[in-house]
Formats: sequence, structure tokens, C-alpha cells
Amino acid sequence: MMDSRRVAVVVSIISIIGLITIYGCVTPQPQASPPSAPSERVEAPAETSQEMSPYEMDVRPLTTAECGQCHFSVFQALKTTGGKHQIDCVRCHARYHVYNPRKQNYDEIMPKCSSCHLSATKGPFHGENKILTPCLNCHADPHKPLNIPLSVIEPTCGICHSKEGNEIKNYPSKHSTDVSCLDCHAEKHGHIPECSACHESHSPKAELASKDCMACHPVHKPSRISYDKQTLSTICAGCHGEAYDLLQKKETKHTAVRCIECHPAHKEIPACSRCHGEPHPKRMIIDVTKCGDCHGIAHDLAI
Ligand code: HEC
Ligand code: HEC
Ligand code: HEC
Ligand code: HEC
Ligand code: HEC
Ligand code: HEC
Ligand code: HEC
Ligand code: HEC
Ligand code: HEC
Ligand code: HEC
Ligand code: HEC
Ligand code: HEC
Repeated sequence: MMDSRRVAVVVSIISIIGLITIYGCVTPQPQASPPSAPSERVEAPAETSQEMSPYEMDVRPLTTAECGQCHFSVFQALKTTGGKHQIDCVRCHARYHVYNPRKQNYDEIMPKCSSCHLSATKGPFHGENKILTPCLNCHADPHKPLNIPLSVIEPTCGICHSKEGNEIKNYPSKHSTDVSCLDCHAEKHGHIPECSACHESHSPKAELASKDCMACHPVHKPSRISYDKQTLSTICAGCHGEAYDLLQKKETKHTAVRCIECHPAHKEIPACSRCHGEPHPKRMIIDVTKCGDCHGIAHDLAI
């Protein structure tokens, strides 16, 4: 049944090619040809085509595009999401159209991953000593090899991403307890979320992209806060409006000093001496223990 259909397709393609060839010959050649030639040429190929036996030509193997004419959805899957599997069908399907329900030979005739991928344990991503089979469990459709159903791999994220898995476990935070890997890495494998998908900024005065948030909150250990010398005081102002406003309200020598220069780690209170050393002779401050007694507070210098 199938073979005859295939032959029919091949034959009609061959006839089309034949016609094209004929038309090509009919097309007048520019100048070069002698005046008598055209009429002879029209007739000669027409005869050939009438006489041609359907078995005269060699049958050439189907091309991938021809497979695609019947297996349109498979072709389309490979075309749009085939990734590195965009190779000829027959490189995988060395045998095809040989399924026989009586023999129940489906599994046997389907391509084997191992014929090209020696072993899952050798891949850079599967890492070493991690036998991950059957392959089709995760790579559910070989025509879309990287479309991996997330629900299937959810319990296994840690096998391949032990660094992130351990980080979340070892630094308990609400990202360990209130959300799962898949709440953030949703939709498809490898998706990276924006913080704004779940959080409003606590510091709307500063424009913060996710990467700025992560400069203070490494996302897999968000409660371990650290920040660097570039941090803008307007970010701190989101929560410490009073300190920020005091510094801005009255111009002192400290107004130009950024929050992080005095508080390089969160909640750390600096000693005045860190920047000023001993500015006064000992005897001048003999009765007073704190610089603040004369200078007010750091955010609002009195003298
Ligand atoms: C990288 C190897 C590979 C390539 C390339 C490939 N296939 Fe497949 N194909 C497979 C495997 C493996 C299966 C078996 C899947 C299963 O058992 O679920 C399969 C199954 C099929 C099936 C039966 C199941 C279904 O999805 O309908 C058809 C039909 C098929 N392929 C057609 C094609 C066509 C047509 C092409 C080229 C356009 C192609 N394949 C390219 C590996 C490949
Ligand atoms: C004229 C249409 C047609 C063409 C061309 C065609 N197929 Fe098929 N193929 C079918 C039909 C019909 C079936 C059976 C129904 C089904 O599984 O979709 C089938 C089944 C298959 C199957 C699964 C069953 C089996 O016996 O292998 C594979 C794999 C397959 N084709 C691969 C290919 C490949 C590879 C090509 C190109 C080299 C190709 N087909 C070209 C029509 C076609
Ligand atoms: C005919 C050979 C062949 C077969 C059979 C085959 N593959 Fe591949 N596969 C390749 C090639 C070639 C690449 C590209 C490798 C590269 O560039 O490193 C590839 C790449 C892949 C990729 C990465 C795709 C990407 O876009 O990065 C996955 C995943 C994959 N294969 C899974 C499978 C699975 C699962 C099977 C069995 C169902 C399978 N392959 C069967 C040849 C094959
Ligand atoms: C537990 C799920 C799982 C199983 C089982 C699995 N894989 Fe993968 N594989 C993945 C994931 C996830 C990726 C990474 C995909 C990505 O890059 O987005 C991957 C990537 C790949 C790649 C691409 C690697 C590269 O270097 O480009 C190949 C090839 C591959 N797998 C082949 C296989 C083969 C062959 C098997 C069976 C022996 C297999 N996989 C079994 C989940 C799995
Ligand atoms: C079989 C191994 C494997 C499993 C299981 C796996 N991944 Fe991956 N994952 C990979 C590989 C390999 C890459 C690197 C792909 C690349 O660089 O293109 C990757 C990349 C990622 C990325 C980063 C994408 C980027 O752009 O940097 C995220 C996020 C990710 N995986 C999350 C997950 C989550 C969440 C799970 C569990 C639901 C999971 N992965 C399961 C192998 C795996
Ligand atoms: C609160 C949301 C959130 C949760 C929960 C989360 N991630 Fe992520 N993950 C991210 C973001 C955002 C990035 C991007 C980090 C970056 O760009 O530095 C990321 C990056 C990654 C990467 C890529 C790392 C790289 O260096 O390319 C992997 C892998 C990953 N996560 C795995 C996981 C795993 C596994 C879990 C669960 C144990 C998990 N993530 C839980 C948000 C999350
Ligand atoms: C899928 C939703 C989701 C995404 C995306 C997400 N978070 Fe969260 N995050 C939460 C939930 C839920 C909590 C706990 C409730 C709360 O504090 O709002 C939380 C809590 C936090 C906490 C407090 C941690 C603690 O233990 O006190 C910080 C800090 C945080 N997130 C930062 C980030 C940053 C930075 C990003 C982007 C890189 C991000 N989050 C992305 C859902 C998310
Ligand atoms: C300059 C560092 C810094 C930046 C940048 C930053 N945060 Fe924070 N974030 C903090 C500090 C400090 C806390 C308070 C921690 C505490 O309560 O001990 C905090 C607390 C949080 C909390 C806990 C709940 C709350 O509001 O107190 C969430 C959620 C959070 N940040 C999300 C974000 C997001 C989202 C961004 C980006 C829009 C961001 N953070 C940018 C320093 C920063
Ligand atoms: C010149 C150094 C300096 C600068 C700049 C500075 N601080 Fe402070 N900050 C201090 C010192 C010192 C204290 C302890 C109270 C005191 O002695 O004045 C303090 C106390 C605090 C406190 C605790 C209680 C209070 O007084 O509000 C917070 C919160 C604070 N600073 C936040 C900030 C923020 C936010 C900024 C930037 C807008 C900032 N600081 C800039 C030195 C500084
Ligand atoms: C999301 C809100 C948030 C942001 C943003 C934030 N903080 Fe805080 N900060 C807090 C909370 C909450 C405390 C603890 C207050 C308490 O214990 O009364 C705190 C405490 C402090 C303290 C110690 C106060 C004391 O009384 O000892 C200092 C200093 C401080 N923060 C400086 C900063 C600086 C500098 C920045 C910017 C780099 C900043 N904070 C950003 C929420 C925040
Ligand atoms: C992170 C460094 C730093 C810390 C900590 C610090 N200051 Fe300063 N302070 C400065 C800088 C910078 C100036 C400006 C110096 C200049 O312009 O010559 C300054 C100037 C001053 C002045 C001179 C004001 C003027 O108008 O001439 C006084 C007084 C002063 N600081 C007091 C203090 C006191 C009191 C503390 C502790 C509560 C303190 N500072 C902590 C950096 C710091
Ligand atoms: C008894 C009051 C008093 C105490 C206590 C005091 N100061 Fe002063 N300080 C002054 C006066 C008054 C001036 C103004 C001198 C001037 O303007 O020439 C001054 C000036 C300064 C200046 C500016 C010096 C300059 O060269 O411009 C700094 C910095 C300073 N003090 C830091 C400190 C620090 C740090 C402490 C705590 C160790 C402290 N002061 C304790 C009264 C005091």
C-alpha cells in the first residue's frame, strides 16, 4: 500500500522534472542557434517523453523536504525547534516505513540515541557518573530535543545544578521556603525570571533592573545582603528616608559622602576615627567621650 503511494509520488515528481526539462529546451536560446534548429528541438524531446518507460530512470532517495510533505508536523517541529537535530531524517531513520503491527516492532525500528550519543555520562551537561535514562523521559520529542517538560525534570534540577541547589539549601531564606525552583524558572527549561515578576521595588527612587537587585541579593541566597562601592544612596533612602533626608536637608561636609562609605556593610555603624583619626588634641576632649556631643550626629553635623 504505502510503497505504491511512495512510488506514485516519486513518479509524479519525476514527470514534473521531465516537463521542466522540456520547457527549458523550448526556451529560445539567445541568437547563437541557427534559424532552422528551433522546430527540430521542439519535437525531439516530446518523442522522448512519450517513449520513456517509467522504469528508465533511477529512483533517487527521498529528500528531507519530501519526507516533510507527508510528515508535515514532524518537519515543522524540526524546522522551528529542532536545534542541532536539524539533520536529514534518514540520518536517524536509516529504516522507515517498516512498522509491522503483527511484529510489534515499533521500538526496534525507531532510532536509538546511543547510536550517535555514546553515553549520557560523557556529556558536559549531564556531567560525570550520572546515568540519565531513558533519554526520552526528558527529551520527550527527538524532533524538538530541547523542549523538556518541566514537570518531569523538576525533582532532578539538583542532579545537574548542584551549585544552585546547595546554595538555596545552605542559606535559608524565603526563596528556600516560599518558592520552588519552578516558581521562578517557569515556562521552559532555562527561563530566567525578572524580580519584578513577584516584587515591587522597596526603593522606587532608584531605577533598579534585576541585575541591580542581585548585586545586593544573590538570588539563591537573597538574605545574604552585600553591596559594593557603586551603590547609590537613593537605594538606601527607600527604607531609611529619615537618614537620607537629614543628610540632604542641610549642606554639611557629610552631605557629599555616600551612605556606603560610612556603612560599607549593612547595619554596620562606623567609628568617626575610621576617617578622621584623632582630629583634636587629647586634652580638648578630655571631658567629653563622644564626638557627637559637640558635632551632633553624623547625618546632621552641628559644627
Ligand atoms: C535526531 C534523530 C531524528 C531525526 C533527525 C528525525 N527523527 Fe523522526 N524520530 C526519531 C526518534 C528517536 C523517534 C521515536 C520517538 C519515540 O519513540 O517516541 C522518531 C519518530 C518519528 C516518527 C513516528 C512518531 C511520530 O512522531 O509521528 C515519524 C513519522 C518520524 N520520526 C519522522 C521523521 C521525519 C519525517 C524526519 C525528518 C523531517 C525525522 N523524523 C527526523 C528521531 C529522529
Ligand atoms: C507519501 C507520503 C510519505 C512520505 C513521502 C514519507 N512518509 Fe513516512 N509515513 C507515511 C505514512 C502514511 C506513515 C504511516 C502513518 C504514520 O505513522 O503517520 C508513515 C510512517 C512513518 C514512520 C513511522 C512508522 C515506520 O514504519 O517507520 C516513520 C519513522 C516515517 N514514516 C519516516 C519517514 C521518512 C524518514 C521519510 C522520508 C525519507 C518519509 N517517512 C516519507 C507517509 C509518508
Ligand atoms: C543520527 C544521529 C543522532 C541520533 C540518532 C540522535 N542524535 Fe541527538 N544530536 C545529534 C547531533 C549531530 C547533535 C549535535 C551535536 C553537537 O553539535 O554537539 C545532537 C544534539 C542533541 C541534543 C542537543 C540539541 C541542541 O540543539 O543543542 C540533544 C538534547 C540530543 N541530541 C538528544 C538526543 C536524544 C534524546 C536522542 C534519542 C531520542 C538523540 N539525540 C538521537 C545526532 C543524533
Ligand atoms: C533527567 C532528564 C534528562 C535525561 C533522562 C536525559 N537528559 Fe539530556 N539533557 C537534559 C537537560 C535538562 C539538558 C540541557 C538542555 C538545555 O541545554 O537546555 C540536556 C542536554 C542534553 C544534550 C545537549 C548537550 C550538549 O552538549 O549540547 C544532549 C546531547 C543530551 N542531553 C542527550 C541525552 C541522551 C543521549 C540521554 C539518554 C542517554 C539524555 N540526554 C537523557 C535532561 C535529560
Ligand atoms: C540533565 C541535566 C539538567 C537538568 C536535570 C536540569 N538542567 Fe538546567 N541546565 C542544564 C544545562 C546543561 C544547562 C546549560 C544550557 C546552556 O548553557 O545553554 C542548563 C541551564 C539552566 C539554566 C540557565 C539558563 C541560562 O540562560 O543561563 C537554568 C535557570 C536552569 N537550567 C534551570 C533548571 C531547573 C530549574 C531545573 C529543574 C526543573 C533544571 N535546570 C534541570 C542541565 C540540566
Ligand atoms: C526566586 C527565584 C528563583 C528561585 C527560587 C530559583 N532561582 Fe535559579 N535563578 C534565578 C535568577 C533570577 C537567576 C539569574 C541569576 C543571574 O543572572 O545571576 C537564576 C539562575 C539560575 C541558574 C543559572 C546560573 C548560571 O550561572 O547561569 C541555574 C542553573 C538555576 N538558577 C537553578 C536553580 C535551581 C536548581 C533552583 C532550585 C533549587 C533555583 N534556581 C531557584 C531565580 C531563581
Ligand atoms: C516567583 C516569584 C519570585 C521571584 C521571581 C523573585 N522572588 Fe523574591 N521572594 C518571593 C517570595 C514569595 C518571597 C517571600 C515573601 C516576601 O518576602 O515578599 C520572596 C522573598 C525575597 C526576599 C526576602 C528574603 C528573606 O528570606 O527575607 C528577597 C531579598 C528577595 N525575595 C529578593 C528577590 C530578588 C532580588 C529577585 C530577583 C532576582 C526575586 N526576589 C525574585 C518570590 C519571588
Ligand atoms: C543596596 C542594596 C539593595 C538593593 C540594590 C536592593 N535591595 Fe532589597 N533589601 C536590601 C536591604 C538592606 C534589605 C533589608 C534587609 C533586612 O531587613 O535586614 C532588603 C530587603 C528586601 C526584601 C525583603 C522584604 C522587604 O521589603 O524588606 C525584598 C523582597 C527585597 N529586598 C527585594 C529587592 C528587589 C526586588 C530589589 C530590586 C528592585 C532590591 N531588593 C534591591 C538591600 C537592597
Ligand atoms: C559620614 C558618615 C555617614 C554617612 C555619610 C551616613 N551615615 Fe548613617 N550613620 C553614621 C553614624 C556614625 C551613625 C551612628 C549614629 C551617629 O553617631 O551619628 C549612623 C547611623 C545610621 C542609622 C541608624 C539610626 C539613625 O540614625 O537613623 C541608619 C539607618 C543610617 N545611619 C543610615 C544611613 C543612610 C541611609 C545613609 C545615606 C543616606 C547614611 N546613613 C549616611 C554615619 C554615616
Ligand atoms: C528594604 C529596606 C532596607 C534597605 C533598602 C536598606 N536598609 Fe538598612 N536597615 C533595614 C532594616 C529593616 C534595618 C534594621 C532596623 C532595626 O533594627 O531597627 C536596617 C538597619 C540599618 C542600619 C543599622 C541601624 C541601627 O539602628 O543600628 C544601618 C546603618 C543601615 N540599615 C544602613 C543602610 C544602608 C547604608 C543602606 C543602603 C546601602 C540600607 N541600610 C538599605 C532596611 C533596609
Ligand atoms: C567614611 C568616612 C567618614 C566617617 C566614618 C566620618 N566622617 Fe566626618 N567627614 C568625612 C569626610 C569625607 C568629610 C569632609 C572632609 C573635607 O571636606 O575635608 C568629613 C567632615 C567632617 C567634619 C567637618 C565638617 C566641616 O564642615 O568642616 C566633621 C566635624 C566631621 N566630619 C565629623 C565626623 C564625626 C563626628 C563622625 C563620627 C560620628 C564622622 N565625621 C565620621 C568622612 C567621614
Ligand atoms: C568639645 C567639643 C568637641 C569634641 C568632643 C569634638 N570636636 Fe571636633 N571640632 C570641635 C570644634 C569646635 C571644631 C571646629 C574647629 C574649626 O572649625 O576650626 C571641630 C572640628 C572638627 C573637624 C574638622 C577639622 C578640620 O580640620 O576642619 C573634624 C573632622 C572633627 N572636629 C572631628 C571630630 C571627631 C572625630 C571627634 C571625636 C573624636 C570630635 N571632633 C570631637 C569640637 C569638638
